[in-house]
Amino acid sequence: MVSPTAFEQAWKLGDQVPGWLTVDQATMLWRAALRLGPGARIVEIGSHQGRSTTVLGLAARSVGATVVAVDPFVEGRLFGGTPTRVSFEKNLARAGLNDVVRLEDEYSTKLRKQWNERVHLLYIDGKHDYWTFTDDMLWSENLVPDGEILVHDAFSSIGVTCGIIAKVLCGNRYVYVDRAGSLARFRLTRPGRADRRRVLAEMPWFVRNVWIKVLLRLRLRPVARLFGHDGPYDPY
Ligand SMILES: C[S@@+](CC[C@H](N)C(=O)[O-])C[C@H]1O[C@@H](n2cnc3c(N)ncnc32)[C@H](O)[C@@H]1O
Repeated sequence: MVSPTAFEQAWKLGDQVPGWLTVDQATMLWRAALRLGPGARIVEIGSHQGRSTTVLGLAARSVGATVVAVDPFVEGRLFGGTPTRVSFEKNLARAGLNDVVRLEDEYSTKLRKQWNERVHLLYIDGKHDYWTFTDDMLWSENLVPDGEILVHDAFSSIGVTCGIIAKVLCGNRYVYVDRAGSLARFRLTRPGRADRRRVLAEMPWFVRNVWIKVLLRLRLRPVARLFGHDGPYDPY
């Protein structure tokens, strides 16, 4: 049972960190982490300034689990490189999570090849191209049976959605469970026909999100508003 007070306290800290996680998505991360037991390990790929890491870390602490945050802090306009790492460390320290979260300052694709620890929950929000995302899904080889995989931008990024079509819709390893906005939950188990139909049912929503992105690139925000999208940011 989720304690609303505990989540609200955690979100108060998480929401102070800039990033792209909504309160509904934070709730989904929080609940997934609370389903874990003592000693469990969460791997987060793509931490940025620590918005999702804070939520996962505080939930992990309450069940005796830990978080491994994987982020190479890529230099560049979008993600900010070293200053972003400094903010990440400051935000995690402010939340009192230095003993719960371990930072791996490395590319997920490189780290995966030498990784040998068991993973109980996998959260993927790193590089969003098809090749990196599908490689990140292979972290599930370390996942406990029936473990959960949470994927941000699952139905709003062309690279990630193509990966989901290839590996979830057409594959035999993952079942799509549900989503909060573009944060989707998958389980490591063999899918049936109904599971595949649920992925297909999200395709119109994915097409709508890509359409919104096109409108925003064309600076047609009023038209995007007609499709129910408010604000300057891509749907997530
Ligand atoms: C969308 S942000 C993550 C947002 C974060 N989860 C939050 O809640 O604010 C994507 C992050 O992925 C990182 N990244 C890019 N390529 C990566 C890779 N190959 N492995 C791990 N992280 C990567 C970037 O440095 C960036 O910080």
